[in-house]
Amino acid sequence: MAESEAYCNLRDLPVVGYTDRLHVFLRLSTNGMTSTLGLPELVPVPPNMSTTFAAASLLEAAEHIVPNVVVWRRHLHRHPEVAFEEVATSQFIHDTLGSLPGLHLTRPTATSVVAELRGGRPGPTIAVRADIDALPILEENDVEYRSTRDGAMHACGHDGHTAIVLGLASLLAPHAAVVPGTVRFIFQHAEEMAPGGAEELVQQGVMDGVSQVIGLHLWAPMPVGRIGILAGPAMAAPDQFQCTIVGKGGHAAIPHECVDPIAIGAQIITALQQVVTRTVDPLDPVVLSVTKFIAGTTFNVIPNSAHFAGTVRTFEPALRTSMPAQMERVIRGIAEAFGATVDFTYEHGYRPVVNDPALTDRLRAVVARTFAPDTLIDLRPTMGGEDFSAYQQRAPGVFAFVGAGNTDAGIVHPHHHPRFEIDERSLSLGLRYLTAATLELLSVR
Ligand code: NI
Repeated sequence: MAESEAYCNLRDLPVVGYTDRLHVFLRLSTNGMTSTLGLPELVPVPPNMSTTFAAASLLEAAEHIVPNVVVWRRHLHRHPEVAFEEVATSQFIHDTLGSLPGLHLTRPTATSVVAELRGGRPGPTIAVRADIDALPILEENDVEYRSTRDGAMHACGHDGHTAIVLGLASLLAPHAAVVPGTVRFIFQHAEEMAPGGAEELVQQGVMDGVSQVIGLHLWAPMPVGRIGILAGPAMAAPDQFQCTIVGKGGHAAIPHECVDPIAIGAQIITALQQVVTRTVDPLDPVVLSVTKFIAGTTFNVIPNSAHFAGTVRTFEPALRTSMPAQMERVIRGIAEAFGATVDFTYEHGYRPVVNDPALTDRLRAVVARTFAPDTLIDLRPTMGGEDFSAYQQRAPGVFAFVGAGNTDAGIVHPHHHPRFEIDERSLSLGLRYLTAATLELLSVR
């Protein structure tokens, strides 16, 4: 059996017990030790204890725990929980980490977990972040590990992020005595729902004393085997707005005695695109999407009111600040011109993710020297948002993208799609990248 082939023939191994769930047997051929993994009593297998605390040795050991990462990811995928409801998820993380030596666990909020590895040698305190929440989506994938909870799905890859950081913790924990510094593993709830779990955790002090923070996103638009790390702005600020237009309802055949909020709303929505194209510097990226427009009940009644909502995505702080007023001027102007009133509200969401340039350079160099020559690719910023930015307000941070797509295998659906999937080989590269990045921040070569 190849060293990396962990799923061995069940008949070759003694049965050590049954649970109501799948048993997975894992053989680590590096040290000849056979251990069992059973769900839900999943026990991580420590890497070969003879592994030396050096980058090359730990990266090799990381390969051997990838099967655990796959098992964890599939377990989480089967049991998704949406933002602020990650009760079983956080308990699973807590239990898994609790079985490791050398970690100090805390629960800063009801559904988050922080594990701290306090190394036996002096060094910096760094943070590694995983987000743990799922989305309110009915999964349409037909896979063995399909979501068992209708209406909830890990459709953004956070199951993979959680499994990867569990893998990193299990890789480093046995070496606590020789780790130069402190590694704080942050398992964050509620990334998908503004104002987001990151800000809450920062308020709880999870970044206190942290000098650098790293995280990653498995990224389906990028092919598996690739890593993209952008210096500077990487992900936009996702703000949101709501607007209610109050007109005057009445008979559809007597429009002149009404104030039609649908006709006014249609003009406003069209004119908002003109705010983007005619009032914003074309070199400043901005997206304004109206994603909801609700009005009326039947064909012969002009309703009293109409409602629309949407999102604005920007990078530039000045533009971000000015967008609400620019939009409101157009909205009020059109509404008043036709005799309607409006209630317009605008909420700022996460700040943009801006990667520290110097740290980005270091981590790009790590990727270039650690992995195959074509691993590191140039990447453009995305207008998607991420509350990793909350940690970056407290310390220099780098958020990397790890390719998870595979066109040949049909892994082509975008994040947040009912058929979203990752190529699980991305878990291996994700773990090895985070391992190499963590060791770089700790100056372990
Ligand atoms: Ni995500």
